[in-house]
Amino acid sequence: MNFDRRRFLTYSSAAAALLGANSLACQSTSSSSTPPKKLKILILGGTGFVGPALVEAATPRGHEITLFNRGKTNPGLFPELEKLQGDRDPLKGEGIKSLAGRQWDVVFDDCGYYPRHVKASAELLAPNVGHYVYVSSISCYARNDIEGMDETAECGTMPDPTLETMGKQYEYYGPLKALCEQAAEAAFPGRACIVRPGYIVGPGDPTDRFTYWPARADKGGEMAVPGAPSDPIQVIDVRDLAEWMVHVAEQKTTGRFNACGPLPSPSKQLDWGEVIRASLACTGNKATPRWVPLEVLEAHQPAGFHIWAPFAGESKGFHRVSNVAAMKAGLKFRTIDQTTSDTLAWFKSLPPERQKRLFDGAARMLTAEKEAELCAAVKKA
Ligand SMILES: NC(=O)c1ccc[n+]([C@@H]2O[C@H](COP(=O)([O-])OP(=O)(O)OC[C@H]3O[C@@H](n4cnc5c(N)ncnc54)[C@H](OP(=O)(O)O)[C@@H]3O)[C@@H](O)[C@H]2O)c1
Repeated sequence: MNFDRRRFLTYSSAAAALLGANSLACQSTSSSSTPPKKLKILILGGTGFVGPALVEAATPRGHEITLFNRGKTNPGLFPELEKLQGDRDPLKGEGIKSLAGRQWDVVFDDCGYYPRHVKASAELLAPNVGHYVYVSSISCYARNDIEGMDETAECGTMPDPTLETMGKQYEYYGPLKALCEQAAEAAFPGRACIVRPGYIVGPGDPTDRFTYWPARADKGGEMAVPGAPSDPIQVIDVRDLAEWMVHVAEQKTTGRFNACGPLPSPSKQLDWGEVIRASLACTGNKATPRWVPLEVLEAHQPAGFHIWAPFAGESKGFHRVSNVAAMKAGLKFRTIDQTTSDTLAWFKSLPPERQKRLFDGAARMLTAEKEAELCAAVKKA
């Protein structure tokens, strides 16, 4: 396939488990369970995307939260919380010294990208912390073409495990995550929980990858949509992920889990068509979707679309990762309509120059001209 998979597979990935219709509309994970014993939680990170959602999920449960970061990203967030300053890299400045000698029930490691960093924090914390929850990624897997991959699937490897670079095309991101997982598990044997999300989406998503769809629908007109409505899709709302991670902490759950979104089942399928339907619906159906099949995409070579990946070839299993284990461990999902409408509301609350970035910035997916070209090609075909 000419359509280079890297354009679709950068930075994340996703496959197959049975999910009943009820699960698609169920309540969030922790709000439905009994309030727990108060936990002392350390978040390594905390002020980007997943971190704030964790704080929002843990706070109403009565947990006490400490954040550890460099104080660079959103430093004004959560003034009420204890904040420890430092760098994940022990060789930079004071490194992780501020964590020494402190006790917590659980640590959420959100920002571990290099095994040396994860090893350092996990080994330092192991004597004083009960449970290490490491946020990995399904990008850790070696392949994306297998449907229904579970947590036993083979992970990617590095040419040199001491390399500290993501690689020219981000190709080491996943293998490095796999090594970070091993570092966490080695320091916390039998006390580590490895969380492997696919695409994390929803309010606060800095990447605009999923946000593009409801935001584009809100602009109206003819909207080019890649692939077919029946293509599988897996995303996880950041709030579902965070609520489940808090649940995992409360239950002291250990093991490895694909934290991927709702999956196709014979009775109810979250497919790409549903995501686009929900994206249009939350805008009052302002736009008209023009479905652009693979052969037209290949002929016109747009820069790429995020989230969607061809349900074929190398990316056939990309949106069909098994989330059975995580669901057994309590992972639940809100509806895709909730995610699209809340994401759009959040996006529209951002400053105009930030909103403009989605369509006009360097990270844009599709120029207006290219989109018009694709729509015209579809109508001609
Ligand atoms: N987005 C997705 O679709 C997706 C999919 C799969 C997996 N993931 C994984 O999910 C995690 C999400 O991370 P997030 O950014 O949303 O987490 P977050 O906890 O909300 O934010 C990242 C935090 O890390 C801190 N940080 C960054 N570099 C640091 C350093 N060298 N030393 C100390 N603190 C540092 C940042 O603060 P300062 O800058 O102030 O230090 C910030 O507080 C990542 O591990 C990612 O690999 C994401």
